Amino acid sequence: MTNTIRFELSDDGIALLSIDVPDRPMNVLTPDLQAELAALVERVASSDSIKGAILTSGKVGGFVAGADLKDFVGAYDRGITAAQAAAISRDMSASLRRLESCGKPFVAAINGLALGGGLELCLACHYRVLVDDAKAVVGLPEVNVGLLPGAGGTQRLPRLIGIQAALPLLLQGRSVKPAEALKLGIVHELADADQLIARAYAWLRGTPSAEQPWDRKGYRVPGGAGPLAAHAGVSFTSGTALATGSTQGNYPAPLAILSCVFEGTQLAMDVGLRIESKYFGKLLSGPVARNLMRTLFVNKGAAEKLASRPSGIPKSRVGKLGILGAGMMGAGIAHVAAQVGMQVVLLDSTLELAQKGRDYSARLLARELKKGRTTGERIEAQLARIKATADYADLDACDLVVEAVFEQRDIKAAVTASAEAVLPASATFASNTSTLPITGLAKASKRPQQFIGLHFFSPVERMPLVEVIVGEQTSDETIAKALDFVGQLRKTPIIVHDSPGFFTSRVIMTYTHEGMRMLEDGVAPALIESAGRRAGFPVGPLALSDEVTMALMQSIIKQQEADALPEHHRSTTGRSVIFRMVDELKRAGRRYGGGFYDYPEQEPKRLWSGLAAAYPTSAEQADIDELSRRFLSIMALESARCFEEGVITNPADADLGSVLGIGYPTWTGGVLSYIDTVGVANFVEQCRRLAERCGPRFLPSTWLQERARAATNFHPTASTG
Ligand code: NAI
Repeated sequence: MTNTIRFELSDDGIALLSIDVPDRPMNVLTPDLQAELAALVERVASSDSIKGAILTSGKVGGFVAGADLKDFVGAYDRGITAAQAAAISRDMSASLRRLESCGKPFVAAINGLALGGGLELCLACHYRVLVDDAKAVVGLPEVNVGLLPGAGGTQRLPRLIGIQAALPLLLQGRSVKPAEALKLGIVHELADADQLIARAYAWLRGTPSAEQPWDRKGYRVPGGAGPLAAHAGVSFTSGTALATGSTQGNYPAPLAILSCVFEGTQLAMDVGLRIESKYFGKLLSGPVARNLMRTLFVNKGAAEKLASRPSGIPKSRVGKLGILGAGMMGAGIAHVAAQVGMQVVLLDSTLELAQKGRDYSARLLARELKKGRTTGERIEAQLARIKATADYADLDACDLVVEAVFEQRDIKAAVTASAEAVLPASATFASNTSTLPITGLAKASKRPQQFIGLHFFSPVERMPLVEVIVGEQTSDETIAKALDFVGQLRKTPIIVHDSPGFFTSRVIMTYTHEGMRMLEDGVAPALIESAGRRAGFPVGPLALSDEVTMALMQSIIKQQEADALPEHHRSTTGRSVIFRMVDELKRAGRRYGGGFYDYPEQEPKRLWSGLAAAYPTSAEQADIDELSRRFLSIMALESARCFEEGVITNPADADLGSVLGIGYPTWTGGVLSYIDTVGVANFVEQCRRLAERCGPRFLPSTWLQERARAATNFHPTASTG
């Protein structure tokens, strides 16, 4: 056993247990930690000279961050059964149950973040003191990775604070700060950092109780247990709404949590814990938890590494950043760069326009100040780092430049040349173009090997993804520098090889176009939109088209045709609807006064009344699940094509790009993970059937059929290496 918990005993018999998992910046519930904790609980329980114990952390600012999800990610691929998975939860639950019922009082002195299993550990203690610090949070976020709190969280939290208060925390995985944790009754007391341990001792030296409320005679769940609350019609109705939303059965975790709470709170604690373990086992042995953990936790967290950073190139840092064009994108990039401490030169064609871009940052910061998330001093320092200018000479000594001027080749070429005239020879030049091939734009540069695409998403301050577009001549060193820069901005990069539409735009187009094809085929517009949302997309394809605008889609198609791109690089599926909406029906999109929807002021949008006349609905309507599958499949198929063509070389990049950039449903884990989850052979078969009914765009390529025959997944699994 390693030493993960320090043990100190005071003269009056109080044990101080400080958790400090070696070689980790933050404590996680490793098997070593769990074993050691169980042994120490026995020692406290059995020793006459020990009166009680304090559990705290030896790490600065953090108690325990929860389970190590990396241990769980491979479970499904290894073929873990539900029973085996349930045993993991049962073991942990048993040791916490022993802690709370061993007869000795335990206090959790929570010195910062306590999430998931970390909070469950605290909930098993008889008293909880939380540090009163802005960075401290407690919560049970397991639902976000498709799991449930399997160490008693679904049983203790509702028993402690009531079902009504517990359900939103369990079902949304929301974490709370100290003031709210105290108000909800999750902790008993708040204390300043230097008083935290003293307060824990003080409680133990008073008249501590070693009995949990739920083990006392006559205990009742605050607000009523499962059936009572159900009769009152409060918690479980709202809970069911939270659990199902419009995505139905795609996310099993919320319903499982609801079942644990509903069934468990009617029964004794020990039985409730067993119910929880059973549901935990089902979730951990299913594909959705694996998909969510792999994409949103492991791959997102390790994106810099997984985005195939070329090896042997030292890590770089951008100290001074230049931005050309202070419009929507330039201003957003300036804001996030100044936020992480970079010096920013924000250039536009006039000083006034550049200052407007800087004002954008000032506005965002003012909002943060209102919410109490920053201070006047920090705002001043951050804004002082953004220099608005119209003078290229200010770009000297910039390590990297992001170009975000109008989407026109000649303008982009002109600013590239002006900037290069003053930039240091080593500077990296990145274009934020959304459609123009990088290799072509690099022709305006004297140093095409230092030229790269960095495709940010709007609004920059909220969207985590950046597509790093590699041109024909882009060097490995430039790729590495660009990835380091994106990491510095705390965003997630994916690597995409230059190709029309890059990756995310190309894939999202198949979604909007498929929606338009359904419309043309007589599917009711409301059904099309529901099918998109039911699959798990944040917006339906028609509403999304209105936002992107049919005008922009039309100009992209015209450009593709002018460039004489090969057929498979053209967006043909929705072409006729787009041209008709723009040219004949004059409904070019939201920004142009309306598209598939009307946007009355002060009212929610509603489907355009003229749509029924333009695209009559057939008497026979398609099955909504098949429509959902059409969306998921056409996008996955296009992504597989991108992989086949080498536009994407790492499946994790495709998955992250689709989930973080274009709202592909998280339960799938992303576009290629969806194919793996369905099974490559099943997916190919599903596409063949769709091709028969809907047209050849669904035909899987020979390459994909080969993969299906060989049963080659996109993500290697534990069993296939
Ligand atoms: P925008 O129109 O809001 O801003 C462009 C800015 O460039 C304006 O402030 C304009 O004054 C300035 N500008 C134009 N010519 C200039 C010149 N010769 N010298 C200096 N400044 C000049 O456009 P937006 O939306 O910020 O887009 C910028 C670029 O980012 C485009 O290439 C666009 O395709 C791309 N992009 C846009 C996204 C979006 O959602 N809007 C998303 C990703 C990329």
